[in-house]
Amino acid sequence: MANSPVGLGVVGAGSIGIRAPLAHLSLPDVQDRVRLTAVCDPFPGRAVAAAAKYGVAHGYESYEELLADPAVDAVTLCSPISLHFDQGMAAIAAGKHVHFNKTMTVTTAEATALIDAAAKAGVKLVASPGQMIKAYNRRIRRLILDGAIGQLAWAHTGAAFGSYHERESVRAGNDVLSNINPAWYWRKPGGGPLYDMTVYGLHSLTGILGPAKRVTAMSGVAVKEREFAGTVYPCDAEDNTLMVLDFGSTLFAFVYGTFAGGLGDVTFFGSKGVIRGQSLNDQPFDYPGKDNPDIHPLGPHITAAHRIGEEHVFEDMMQFVDLIREDIPTVATPEHARHVIEIIEAGLAASETGKTQILTTTFAPPDGE
Ligand SMILES: NC(=O)c1ccc[n+]([C@@H]2O[C@H](COP(=O)([O-])OP(=O)(O)OC[C@H]3O[C@@H](n4cnc5c(N)ncnc54)[C@H](O)[C@@H]3O)[C@@H](O)[C@H]2O)c1
Repeated sequence: MANSPVGLGVVGAGSIGIRAPLAHLSLPDVQDRVRLTAVCDPFPGRAVAAAAKYGVAHGYESYEELLADPAVDAVTLCSPISLHFDQGMAAIAAGKHVHFNKTMTVTTAEATALIDAAAKAGVKLVASPGQMIKAYNRRIRRLILDGAIGQLAWAHTGAAFGSYHERESVRAGNDVLSNINPAWYWRKPGGGPLYDMTVYGLHSLTGILGPAKRVTAMSGVAVKEREFAGTVYPCDAEDNTLMVLDFGSTLFAFVYGTFAGGLGDVTFFGSKGVIRGQSLNDQPFDYPGKDNPDIHPLGPHITAAHRIGEEHVFEDMMQFVDLIREDIPTVATPEHARHVIEIIEAGLAASETGKTQILTTTFAPPDGE
């Protein structure tokens, strides 16, 4: 595999399928490492239209056809989150490597089953979001380990749903590549802002601090109906959740996934100061590649040609390609994703039961730099 490009199958030609693998991996500069060999989507006509637009050899309506295609060495799952487990297991059984768009699975048990099955089959798994690929996040870890803000007290991060998905540009048109229905984002299993957005902050928070130990939370469904293209959809996924995480040594974090309130940078408070975004005590801190126009802060693969949106997903996919071809490790591991999934699952369980949940999974946080 080291010299040949990876044959990649795109599973789902919706918002991220179009804007990440199809838009980025059809560009000339990556063809020596990865080729789009197939795309599938059950929505009538969508896969064929995507294949034609992005020069992909085959557009299938069924996933089974894509998995049976010998030109597909690996898949990127761009389908709704609730499908990732079954599709991941099927890919592993077919001997294909798997990249999961966030969130990898709905439950911890599903994540564990995938990790075990992949190890047995000898295939590679990479899970977005690769937040610790970002040089500034690894620098924050180093700053904290070196005591830059003294004894840590608490941290916070979170994200709000708003009506982002209703307004995405790929959903506003009339043809099969631009009328993509986002209603699954509002339904269980796998819907709601925790699985959709808070997952980013949780990857950063735990990547910087290491695994958490306990979770408590309050959660509910606040917005009961949402409208898309003139149809009203019932919503049953929790859309208003406030969690408190315990990292041990009296270090706590406040994490939210709500229907309103905006996106919060991860912020750390300590006895000697605060790290907020990319600032240490209100002064921008230095990190490898900062102020270098040739190095993108989200990752080393993001050359000028790839500054076309969803760069972070492109970076994760290229790390997946490098892992398959050259065995270059990536920090976007399924073990890290599983820990984040356990935090989300535990938060919802804590809210339902009124009991603080003890976390059992762990992962090795990357080195700070
Ligand atoms: N939209 C974003 O901004 C964004 C960004 C990063 C990651 N993601 C992640 O990407 C994944 C997909 O999200 P999206 O926003 O593109 O969703 P989407 O609803 O826009 O697209 C999903 C596509 O999957 C197709 N699909 C449904 N069932 C399928 C099946 N069985 N096999 C193959 N395809 C199937 C749908 O027809 C649709 O075209 C999710 O995991 C999401 O969290 C989304």
